[in-house]
Amino acid sequence: MFYRPEEGHGLPHNPFNAIVTPRPIGWISTRGADGQDNLAPYSFFNAVAYVPPQVMFASTSAKPDRGDTKDSVANIRETGVFCVNIVSEALRDAMNQTSGAWGREVDEFTDAGLEKATCETIACSRVAASPASLECKLTQIVQLPGEANFVVFGEVTGVHMRDDCMAEGRFDVTRFNPLTRLGYQDYSVIRETFSLKRPGE
Ligand SMILES: Cc1cc2nc3c(=O)[nH]c(=O)nc-3n(C[C@H](O)[C@H](O)[C@H](O)COP(=O)(O)O)c2cc1C
Repeated sequence: MFYRPEEGHGLPHNPFNAIVTPRPIGWISTRGADGQDNLAPYSFFNAVAYVPPQVMFASTSAKPDRGDTKDSVANIRETGVFCVNIVSEALRDAMNQTSGAWGREVDEFTDAGLEKATCETIACSRVAASPASLECKLTQIVQLPGEANFVVFGEVTGVHMRDDCMAEGRFDVTRFNPLTRLGYQDYSVIRETFSLKRPGE
């Protein structure tokens, strides 16, 4: 089939995010200017540069108590920092719990029963049980066409990796099985990996 997005797809559910898969999940922790901690998953997320290391995530709708955006972007506007926590298979249900459209006064760490750890380079909490966390300083927020579409870019200023996820000098995903987002309400877990040498290597 073919469809033009402005004319609609005619399907029961939007296939767009089932086409761009699998997506990593950036579990974004932030802290408001009032000290309130926040945690939410964003699968419009990726790494975008090595030197200096940089990441992005995109926020695509608004909450009634946050004007033109949601808690994560609102907090980052206030403080200029955020932390990206990686989601393992074991953290699946806690991650999902933090995706609820809770009021701004809700601390999703507490609500999902997650232990906090302190960041080293930014004033923000991180998920202690995450296999890795990237402490980030905001570089820019870009507003995209459409309502409430923002991309947040950050420079990574601190990198945490759980010791038990390291093997022979590598960050070993088979030690924790990353969770990935597919379309609709579907997910996948990475359990099998292989290596490929590039031509000429
Ligand atoms: C796996 C997963 C991925 C998500 N990815 C996004 C995303 O990329 N962008 C977005 O705006 N919302 C995304 N959401 C929805 C947000 O997590 C949800 O709106 C949340 O309440 C936002 O929280 P906040 O207001 O604390 O930032 C995702 C939800 C789940 C479960």
